[in-house]
Amino acid sequence: MKCAAIIPAAGIGTRFGGSMPKQFSEYESIPILIHTLKLFERINEVTSVIVAITPSWEDYTNEMISIHGLNKVNKIIAGGMERQDSVFNALITLGTNVYDIILIHDAVRPFVSPELVRKIILLSNEFGAVIPALKPKETIKQIDENGMVQKTLDRSVLCAVQTPQGFKKGIIFSAYKKAMEENFYATDDAALVEFAGFPVKVIDGEETNIKITTQFDIQF
Ligand code: C5P
Repeated sequence: MKCAAIIPAAGIGTRFGGSMPKQFSEYESIPILIHTLKLFERINEVTSVIVAITPSWEDYTNEMISIHGLNKVNKIIAGGMERQDSVFNALITLGTNVYDIILIHDAVRPFVSPELVRKIILLSNEFGAVIPALKPKETIKQIDENGMVQKTLDRSVLCAVQTPQGFKKGIIFSAYKKAMEENFYATDDAALVEFAGFPVKVIDGEETNIKITTQFDIQF
């Protein structure tokens, strides 16, 4: 079972502020993106990593990859307008021939445990599409554009979804093909798989697997 990881890292991070995209800001003197890539170096099941970035960050990314001795990044490609475009570019680069399982993981989630990544790889082979998620602790309300509550949702049937998301090759390629042909955009990869009519298995995520989005997250 050959497994590749796609790391979308081409966002500009408007919610983060600051002079650089959040994936390049540093935690313990190392860019967040590099923390994330280091994690995949430790996971033997993953033999190849593709990173999507904004082209102006290519030289810096290459330099960091070499300084930190990362061996699995076999391609750095240009991202697109939306996260989905960045992942699509990476899938096209990867091609359909070599890998059985494709993991897609946000560059800004450096704290996922290797155990969870391995579990997702294993279960992807069984279920075809696997995502980690947490049940919300708070009550969730649907609101309108004026901040007025429209209704209170039943939190027992809701979950907040994380990455990595794992897919069998055939499923993720046909889901992306259909979504891009029909101009269907969503904020995670599993939504495209759902749109294409495939089942998606949810497993327990990790509270520590935070998505670094604001300055507070990085301090936290
Ligand atoms: O914007 P958001 O927080 O959802 O981004 C999640 C991940 O997708 C980040 O790692 C970001 O760099 C990446 N992304 C991308 N291409 C875009 C937008 C976001 O690769 N056009």
